[in-house]
Amino acid sequence: MLGDFTYHNPCRVHFGPNALDELPSELAEYGPKVLLTYGGGSIKRNGVYDKVITALEAAGKTVFEVPGVMSNPTADKLREGAKVARENDVDLILAVGGGSTIDYAKGVSVSAWTEGDPWEHLYLHMEEPTGKVIPVGDVLTMSGTGSEMNAGSVITNHEEGLKIGHVFGPNVIPRFAIVNPEVTFTVPDYQMRAGIYDAFNHICEQYFSGTDDNTSDYIAEGLMRSLVHASRIAVKDPTDYEARSNISWVCTWALNTLIACGKSTDWEVHMLGQAIGAVTDATHGMTLSAVSLPYYRLVMPYGVEKFARFARAVWNVDDSGKSEREVAEAGLEAMSEWMDQIGVVKSARELGLTEENIPDAVKATFILDGGYHKLTTEEVEQIFHESL
Ligand code: NZQ
Ligand code: ZN
Repeated sequence: MLGDFTYHNPCRVHFGPNALDELPSELAEYGPKVLLTYGGGSIKRNGVYDKVITALEAAGKTVFEVPGVMSNPTADKLREGAKVARENDVDLILAVGGGSTIDYAKGVSVSAWTEGDPWEHLYLHMEEPTGKVIPVGDVLTMSGTGSEMNAGSVITNHEEGLKIGHVFGPNVIPRFAIVNPEVTFTVPDYQMRAGIYDAFNHICEQYFSGTDDNTSDYIAEGLMRSLVHASRIAVKDPTDYEARSNISWVCTWALNTLIACGKSTDWEVHMLGQAIGAVTDATHGMTLSAVSLPYYRLVMPYGVEKFARFARAVWNVDDSGKSEREVAEAGLEAMSEWMDQIGVVKSARELGLTEENIPDAVKATFILDGGYHKLTTEEVEQIFHESL
C-alpha cells in the first residue's frame, strides 16, 4: 500500500564516461567563489583534480580549497571547512571524491552560516540549519554511499565516541552530480567491495520493513539482482565497464530515497555499523557486512514472510518441500555465500572490535523501531559478540 508521500530530488545527474563535460554548464549557474573539497590525494593521482581545476579556471572561478577530508570525516574537520566557507562567503561547494568528501561538503554547506557549534547543533541534537545553505555539487569518484544524490551527511566525533548521520531537507541534496564509472576503476579493491556491500545494505534497510504490498519493494528487488550480478563480475575484473557502470547506477538509486517512498524502513544495521565505526574508524561498508548476518538471523523469525520473499526474488532459492522459515533461512545462506564471493568482512574483530570495546560500541548504538523487531540493549551486545 502506498500512502501519502512527496518525492522531490533536485539533483541533476550526469552519468557516463563523458559526464565531466557537463561540469562547465553546471558551474555557470553559480557565483564566482567556489570551495573545492577533496580527500587524501587520489584525485591528484588519477587526473581528476587537473580536469576539475581546468574547468573551474575556464569558468573564471576563484577557488578556495579544503583538501584532506578523511574517510569518516570528523567534527574538527567540519569546523575547519565551515570557517573557510563563511569567511570567504563562497557561492558553491564542489566535492570531488567519495561519500566522505560529499558528506563533508554537505556538512560544511549547512554549518557555515548556522550559529554555534555545528557538531552539537546539526548532528548531536539533529537540529535543522538556521542560516543559509550553500549549494553543493559533486564529482563522484567512488560508488557506494549514494551521497551524490541524497541529503545525508555522516560526521564522526572521536572524542565523544559517536558517529552520527543527519538526513537534511531537499535543499541540502547536491544540485548536480557527475558520475563517471570509469573514474571508479582506480578505487582500491577493498573500498570497491565495501561500496558494493554498502549499497546492498541500503536496499536491505529499506526493504526489510513492513508487510504490505508496495512498488518500492519490487524496485528494490530489481536493484539487488542487478548489484549481485554486476558485483560478481567486478570483483574478477574491476575494469569491466558494464559491471562497474551498473554498480554505480545501483549505488546512486539505492539511497536517493526512491525505494523508501510510501513504506516503512529499518536502518538498524547502519546504527550497529556506525557504532563500530565510532569505536574503530573502520571502513563503513565493512562495518555493515560484519554485523549483517547476526542481525538478520536474529530478526528473521519476526519477519519470515519478507525474508522468504527475499530468498525467492533475489536469490532464486528453490522452495520445493521447504517451510517458509526454511526458505527464509536459505535466502540468508545465499546472501552469506555471495558475501564470500565478493570478499567482504564478516568478522568485526578484523575491524578492531574486541570484547573490551564492545561496551563502547553498545553505548554508541542508536536503537530504532522500524524493522521487524526492536532490539534490546542485550541483543545489541549479543550481535556485536556474534560478529567478532
Ligand atoms: O581520500 P582519497 O585519497 O580520495 O581516497 C579515498 C578513500 O581513501 C579512496 N578513493 C575514492 N575514490 C577513489 C579513491 N581512490 C582511488 N581512486 C578513486 N577514484 O577511497 C577511500 C574511501 O573513500 P570514502 O569517501 O571514505 O568512502 P565512501 O564513499 O564509502 O564514504 C564513506 C563515508 O560515507 C558515509 C560513511 O559513514 C562514511 O563516513 N555514508 C554516507 C551516507 C549518505 N550520505 O547517505 C550513507 C552511508 O550509509 C554512509 O554512512
Ligand atoms: Zn551505508
